[in-house]
Amino acid sequence: MISRFPHLIDLNDFPVSWWNKIIDLGHDIRRHPQRYTHACDGKIMGTLFYEPSTRTQMSFQSAMIRLGGSIIGFDNPATSSVAKGENLKDTTKIVSNYSDILVMRHPLAGAAKAAALTADCPVINAGDGGHLHPTQTLTDLLTLKEEKGRLDNLNIGLCGDLVYGRTVHSLCKALSAYPGNTFVLISTPQLRLPSYIKDVITASGSKYTEVTSLDEIIGDLDMLYMTRIQRERFASEAEYFAQKDTYILDRKKLSKSRLDMIVMHPMPRVDEIAIEVDNDKRAAYFNQAKYGMYVRMALIMTMLESSKGTTLLKGIVHHDCRCSNPKCITNTEEYLPASFIGIGDTVECEYCDERKLLTH
Ligand code: CP
Repeated sequence: MISRFPHLIDLNDFPVSWWNKIIDLGHDIRRHPQRYTHACDGKIMGTLFYEPSTRTQMSFQSAMIRLGGSIIGFDNPATSSVAKGENLKDTTKIVSNYSDILVMRHPLAGAAKAAALTADCPVINAGDGGHLHPTQTLTDLLTLKEEKGRLDNLNIGLCGDLVYGRTVHSLCKALSAYPGNTFVLISTPQLRLPSYIKDVITASGSKYTEVTSLDEIIGDLDMLYMTRIQRERFASEAEYFAQKDTYILDRKKLSKSRLDMIVMHPMPRVDEIAIEVDNDKRAAYFNQAKYGMYVRMALIMTMLESSKGTTLLKGIVHHDCRCSNPKCITNTEEYLPASFIGIGDTVECEYCDERKLLTH
């Protein structure tokens, strides 16, 4: 199914040349913001945030206002008609008719794709459950370009919650598209990167290793990407507390890294980076959050200028089957057409990307 509109659901729906154009535009906007103050005059951005956010929501809002546009939306579904039981389809359809572009965050995987199936304007995925966060990845790519000067031939450490960390998933997929990058995946056995992301890394020709100790490898890295252990993604408090505080980057640990390494974090930070690290010149995470605003300005402009529609569903639509992932949007919004792509002896859900057997 091809939409009439461009949608950013997964960065990998677009070629690397498109990402590079956005990063270059974000770089130019950062240097010459005055050139872009009327780029979106008269345009309206709708922000549908079904899940809490500070950086993504406010950087998008600030981005649109700095481009001359306006914003509408909600940051708490309890204050909208979602609280009365309105489904995602109806909310999306209605708000897309009030807007020129929609930005959506949702706790369930595949929600932005589900919204794009209905919307009468472009949809940007601002994080869908533990699945993907493509605009964080654009933020991370601009940060690497500005702070390290390149996106290739980097030794990248990713530390913490790699299983539920949507920022990590999107970033691994993106950085494996640039030549010469290697990945060091630092986590407990319970929080390892999902196999479908490891398959993307391998298929690109990049290499990865899985380790449990941050101390042993920190000296080898060009960039360390710290992540929060996300309490809201665990099935029980006991499972969360078993993982919490496993990895804490403090000044002592950081002293084992090279002076040109940078520390990134999508934030919010809880305890995984000690406050004492903030003033170290390797700490790039506050700059990173600011780069997010510039890259989102570039993205909004690009999406509003584009007339090329996005392919949303490519697989076989099964009206009588459901995805077996309970956190997939298709199991909550049951009117959605379930759609799967066959891969070997498994099938991959086109909303949440999980490879599972079909359940009838
Ligand atoms: N990085 C990020 O997505 O932060 P928020 O949850 O505050 O938007």
